[in-house]
Amino acid sequence: MIATQSFIDGNFDRFVEELLEMLRIPSISADSAYADDVRRNAEFIVDKMTEAGADNIQLFETAGHPIVYGEKIIDPKLPTVLVYGHYDVQPPDPLELWTSGPFDPVIKDGNIYARGACDDKGQMYMHLKAFEAMMNAGELPCNVKFMIEGEEEVGSDNLEPFCKEHKELLASDVILVSDTSMISLETPSITTGLRGLSYVEVKVTGPNRDLHSGVYGGAVANPVNILSKMIASLQDENGHITIPGFYDDVVTVSDAERKQMNAAPFSLDDYKSELEIDDVHGEAGYTTLERTTIRPTLDVNGIWGGYIGEGAKTVLPSIAQAKISMRLVPNQDSDTITRLFQEHFESIAPKSVKVEVSPHHGGTPCVTPTDSIEYKAAEAAIEEAFGKTPIPQRSGGSIPIVALFEEVLGIKTVLLGFGLDSDNIHSPNEKYGIANYRKGIETIPLFFKHYTKMKS
Ligand code: BES
Ligand code: MN
Ligand code: MN
Repeated sequence: MIATQSFIDGNFDRFVEELLEMLRIPSISADSAYADDVRRNAEFIVDKMTEAGADNIQLFETAGHPIVYGEKIIDPKLPTVLVYGHYDVQPPDPLELWTSGPFDPVIKDGNIYARGACDDKGQMYMHLKAFEAMMNAGELPCNVKFMIEGEEEVGSDNLEPFCKEHKELLASDVILVSDTSMISLETPSITTGLRGLSYVEVKVTGPNRDLHSGVYGGAVANPVNILSKMIASLQDENGHITIPGFYDDVVTVSDAERKQMNAAPFSLDDYKSELEIDDVHGEAGYTTLERTTIRPTLDVNGIWGGYIGEGAKTVLPSIAQAKISMRLVPNQDSDTITRLFQEHFESIAPKSVKVEVSPHHGGTPCVTPTDSIEYKAAEAAIEEAFGKTPIPQRSGGSIPIVALFEEVLGIKTVLLGFGLDSDNIHSPNEKYGIANYRKGIETIPLFFKHYTKMKS
């Protein structure tokens, strides 16, 4: 694909400029104050798809944020690749920890710094630019469809009904997603699994109002003390989760697979020094790579209650709350785990408090085979672009819609991600390497080429 490559070379600076333009749009899906910006981002994608030469472009309204669709059908007899990505981003807070504005992208040391630079605007946009390059070069080898949503970061609630309603429109042979990471540009990898998710919010209520902690302290349950103790009891001294039945459906990974997994290049010292921690922490009997991929977890994402302002206020708070996520592995079921959590959490609450558990979104874990045509095509594309065979590696993150694609549309997904774990996604100073952006744009057409060849 010589002409495609030379189009990329000749237009790459503009590709960067356009990404910066999109990164200036604060498309925060979680915050309704930004709904207009989210829509503006969807319209930006419509414009760019139009310029790139896609057909049948539609901005689909949903009960939440819009979904952008577009396609190029060159021959119905050829295979069709459905590209999925998301243009919404996580809230940027805490703002004071950013060295430049989250929606004021800057380029520093070969990286683009902005919220969404890697997750997922930068990675999603690579597909539009790869498509534009193939179109201009006259080298698009198969059909392509795009489905770009604006609610991934809030659980993709409206995408499932959308897929169910538009099965025919979305009919394709494979779904291609760039929304994960690789080990490094020197050691490319392909993501072969994602964890599932169960997310709950808990509320512990003690007395009917905040009390003087001297007058009442010692005689009335303090919800913050109680909640802390309840949360602490959810893991034992070996890092095992104590919810009865939690591990019942966990598939045991074979020793051979664990051995292969741990052979991937990984330095525990680098890991610790990059995070400035003296030691790692987790489930006994598993390595860091295993703890973050093949084992389920339970983490508090936020906890609050009582006085957190300046100085010292003596108060016995009436309420304590926490947001808790559990990452799941095959074959744990999100709804089952949420129910087990709820039953257990209610059962361990002392009579002195009331406990409420409210479920948020969930997601099913998935593992993809490495002997399929789609994996082989992704492998061949990386080999050609990087000169190295990629390592298959499961990821600890979640993209709940991937399992749904298979369930609802019956289509398998390839996770061809170009981010790095150190890209600070969901954190302050999110970044994306310009070299990663470029490699992604160069690798995607090669996936199209190899996939079309292998499929026919
Ligand atoms: N792109 C991420 C998921 C991801 C990141 C997978 C890195 C693999 C490596 C996605 O946007 C995300 O953040 N997903 C959420 C779940 C969602 C339901 C909010 C997550 O994993 O926390
Ligand atoms: Mn993402
Ligand atoms: Mn994300």
